[in-house]
Amino acid sequence: MAETAHGERAAEPGLFGPGFVADPYPAYAWLRAHAPVHRATLPSGVEAWLVTRYRDARAALADPRLSKNPSRHSADRHASGRVGIPGERGAGLMTHLLNIDPPDHTRLRRLVSQAFTPRRVAAFEPRVRELTERLVDGFAGRGSADLIDEFAFPLPIYAICDLLGVPAEDQEDFRSWAGMMLHTSGKRGGVGRAVKRMRAYLAELIHRKRSEPGDDLISGLIRASDHGEQLTEDEAAAMAFILLFAGFETTVNLIGNGVHTLLGHPAQLALLQEGLAAGDDRLLATAVEELLRYDGPVELATWRFATEPLTLGGRSVGAGEPVLVVLAAADRDPERFAEPDTLDLTRSDNPHLGYGHGVHYCLGAPLARSEARTALAVLLRRLPDLRRAGDAPEPRWRGGLIMRGLRSLPVEFTPERVTERQ
Ligand code: HEM
Repeated sequence: MAETAHGERAAEPGLFGPGFVADPYPAYAWLRAHAPVHRATLPSGVEAWLVTRYRDARAALADPRLSKNPSRHSADRHASGRVGIPGERGAGLMTHLLNIDPPDHTRLRRLVSQAFTPRRVAAFEPRVRELTERLVDGFAGRGSADLIDEFAFPLPIYAICDLLGVPAEDQEDFRSWAGMMLHTSGKRGGVGRAVKRMRAYLAELIHRKRSEPGDDLISGLIRASDHGEQLTEDEAAAMAFILLFAGFETTVNLIGNGVHTLLGHPAQLALLQEGLAAGDDRLLATAVEELLRYDGPVELATWRFATEPLTLGGRSVGAGEPVLVVLAAADRDPERFAEPDTLDLTRSDNPHLGYGHGVHYCLGAPLARSEARTALAVLLRRLPDLRRAGDAPEPRWRGGLIMRGLRSLPVEFTPERVTERQ
């Protein structure tokens, strides 16, 4: 039973029940209307407050009384071990941007921002295009593909490896570790092992780049300094890792969920394709933002913990209690978005929370936007009759708490209609 905003008891919607992963939106609509700040027992057994209205969500994301430091969690150590990146303790990864508060966060973010600049991302765009075209070449002659395995998964992993400066001969190792992280989600042992291997590799790479710097992001991280202070090798390794961890599965799911949504909305897809075929990609920018709002990759923002007793949306949250902001619910709030359950690629008033809000606002948003726009443009231009595979079963979703994404996305197209690279 849930307690409603008016203190009544009401039957809970199918939160985390059967069918929830495939379509969580009806349960979120119920929570927004009846229990907008709701204390829930998560499938892991941990209790947390779920915040579902746009106004409360935005306020919570910017509230300095909500800490990102997991040691603020009031629950026993056993429970707080289940609120972070699997394996982060063993890999010495506790000090990264998503686990710390100002002023430490301010210092680290300033340092990484010197290296991870919008200019670096803009200069990287031709490389993203080349990677994207190459991936499409890989399956274009076949008439069918699994767009997760063959497109959405490899693109961000190769892109972030290139950006960081991981040599080409080591990128297949990364692909395999990233695969372990993605495909064993839920089985914590496998993820933990992949995290440790990546972390160890990055530490060694940073050590090497210190004596042989290049024009890559890792060399930029080593060079960055703030009032004479630089990142230690440990901090640089943790930073490189969090860029990978935060930027990989999110981008896989932005492309995967985005294409899945478009294939389910043929009129909107046709609108986008007509523009692209005529060489007009103006709609791409608003389309990517709308796909993020409508069914974005980050369903819940990462964990926050109350540093003192506080009131959120009329409910009392005790010190140390965990708070989870449900971005997917806030982004369908009818008090903020007109016709929130309608996909409208031309939507211009769209201040969605898909990249978060406040000091932890997504650092990689410019890269994510660039990758998503390029991926959609190349895919839809080259495969004009892209459609769901005729014999595809119901889409299967991965069941994680924070991320929302598909296990596979089987598609078909006519090889004779595939167009050449531009
Ligand atoms: C594709 C889509 C992406 C989405 C939807 C996304 C979403 C988000 C969200 C919601 C947050 C805030 C989490 C919170 O406050 O709890 C965040 C933070 C972050 N993101 Fe992204 N992200 C994406 C891609 C990327 C990429 C490509 C990178 C880097 C290569 C990246 C790096 C980061 C980092 C480092 C943070 C932590 C920032 C901080 O704590 O200061 N993200 N992202």
